[in-house]
Amino acid sequence: MLQIRNLQVSYGGAVLALRSVSLDVRQDAVVAVLGSNGAGKTTLLRSIAGTLSDHGGAVDHGAIEFEGVNTAGRSPSAMAAAGVVLVPEGRRIFTSLTVAENLRAGGFGVRDRARRTTALRRVHELFPLLHDRADQRAGLLSGGQQQMLAIGRALMASPRLLLIDEPSLGLAPQMVGRIGEVIDEIHTQGTTVLLIEQNATMALGVASHAFVLTVGAVTLQGSAAELAADQAVRELYLGGAPKPEQAAQATPASGLAPTPALRRWTA
Ligand SMILES: Nc1ncnc2c1ncn2[C@@H]1O[C@H](COP(=O)(O)OP(=O)(O)O)[C@@H](O)[C@H]1O
Ligand SMILES: [Mg+2]
Repeated sequence: MLQIRNLQVSYGGAVLALRSVSLDVRQDAVVAVLGSNGAGKTTLLRSIAGTLSDHGGAVDHGAIEFEGVNTAGRSPSAMAAAGVVLVPEGRRIFTSLTVAENLRAGGFGVRDRARRTTALRRVHELFPLLHDRADQRAGLLSGGQQQMLAIGRALMASPRLLLIDEPSLGLAPQMVGRIGEVIDEIHTQGTTVLLIEQNATMALGVASHAFVLTVGAVTLQGSAAELAADQAVRELYLGGAPKPEQAAQATPASGLAPTPALRRWTA
């Protein structure tokens, strides 16, 4: 569905954020990208979603193909029309607007009214709270609820590929588990997901395949179970030595393990 080849991205022609990234996302998969701060994870999603130029970045070379078409340099609205929608880092909901207005904003690019109605029904089924609090100001929601709203807003565009940038950041462990369940549900409903996470346990619990990004390059990739069992991944991101029984549990869609003590990534 999505193929990225030798992607190099820089900001202001000076800061090299991605050196040479190649990555595939198959239709109907949940793919996770792990990596520490500054690795280039957000830049990768911006490149795919078309928001790079808003941040002073540009693709130097390489290809981004969505369903066989090179989409590098396309605008976010063109990407949304093609079926690719980003849930940005830090949620970026409109805090002074109501929950309903935020959701409506997510469906702006969708001309077909029936499609908007179907999308809204899906969002309300997934997040009943967004229905109950429709008229409340979005800024009054908790962090976890705001993340649900940000995901709901993206779903209003009926994406086929949903890009999610660090949804669990700053959330309590229980809420992180809930986000994982939501991603699982979205995937089960037929939406392909590319998930960026600092919470490796959550990400590897929900993903089928994962990549590790280190200073702008892919340094590891494999099935989620392989990565969960990998010594380097365990040491860097899961905070411990491999335990065979735990590795065995980390099969795709095996449900979500409790949040571990993350050494490098715990805020
Ligand atoms: N708008 C920007 N302008 C200049 N440099 C940026 C910008 N955004 C990110 N960078 C730089 O690009 C690199 C990758 O950042 P980013 O993609 O945000 O990483 P991550 O999401 O993995 O933390 C970092 O060195 C960061 O400082
Ligand atoms: Mg980031």
